Amino acid sequence: MVVEIKKIGVIGSGQMGSGIAHVCAVAGYDVALSDISMDRIESGLANINGNLARQVQKGQISEEARSQALARISPAVDLDMLSEADLVIESAVENEQVKRKIFSQLCPLLKPEAILATNTSSISITRLAASTDRPERFIGIHFMNPVPIMELVELVRGIATEDETFEASKDFVAKIGKTIAVAEDFPAFMVNRILLPMINEAIYTLYEGVGSVESIDTAMKLGANHPMGPLQLADFIGLDTCLSIMQVLYEGLADSKYRPCPLLVKYVEAGWLGRKTQRGFYDYRGDTPVPTR
Ligand SMILES: NC(=O)c1ccc[n+]([C@@H]2O[C@H](COP(=O)([O-])OP(=O)(O)OC[C@H]3O[C@@H](n4cnc5c(N)ncnc54)[C@H](O)[C@@H]3O)[C@@H](O)[C@H]2O)c1
Repeated sequence: MVVEIKKIGVIGSGQMGSGIAHVCAVAGYDVALSDISMDRIESGLANINGNLARQVQKGQISEEARSQALARISPAVDLDMLSEADLVIESAVENEQVKRKIFSQLCPLLKPEAILATNTSSISITRLAASTDRPERFIGIHFMNPVPIMELVELVRGIATEDETFEASKDFVAKIGKTIAVAEDFPAFMVNRILLPMINEAIYTLYEGVGSVESIDTAMKLGANHPMGPLQLADFIGLDTCLSIMQVLYEGLADSKYRPCPLLVKYVEAGWLGRKTQRGFYDYRGDTPVPTR
């Protein structure tokens, strides 16, 4: 059954969920944005508003497009408000139990033909799909951060994902102006399978005292021509997300080369999760970021 995607539900209004809602609304889709509280949804909407305003300033979209996009996003305090959606994209925290719980509450509310997608960075699509009532209509649509800026979307089929689901998802990604890379369903897919071990190695380099935060980031920016250093990037992704991806790689591939650096664990235990909590490998509370080690 080929579904025409018109209405979209987004679960989780954090940095990724709000970005997904933003690009969908700009592309003309009606979006219902959900999270655990109205406060969280409002903070997601404020984030979208700020990012849309920046796009207007840069001349990328008109003021009219900004207000129209905002008007297309409705806060969904109850999951019930996602029942009309043709596609729901789950983008809540990177925790399998949380995601499974969301799916068990959501699925009975959805139309039978609705497609359910997850923006997980690393968890098995096949395993998540198996916990739902619609493994054939389940798919990984993995956006990159920040969503309005990054062009790539990894599309990941689970073992049971039907061709119609895959094709409808491909059309959707094209309509929001992104480019697809198809990945097989193995831990962390492609981008994070390659990127996160590099970030983890940068943290080991810091942990072992080979370099300071600044020298490691400078080394990779100027020595490998990366637009931002690996520790700066880790703060940007969120250190909790980095740690969960490393744990998924470590457990999923059963290879000790993926062991998360103890220093990464310590930062997460401290609640220093990077930009989103104003402190990670850098302290963002002042005018310019200051290294924390
Ligand atoms: N940060 C990245 O660079 C990145 C990139 C690609 C994909 N992802 C994936 O996107 C997802 C979200 O990551 P993020 O960076 O936006 O995290 P985040 O911490 O910014 O946001 C997560 C949001 O999920 C909400 N949430 C928690 N439990 C919930 C529930 N039961 N129901 C609804 N909402 C709930 C939280 O309140 C929060 O607003 C994760 O699966 C992550 O792996 C992250």
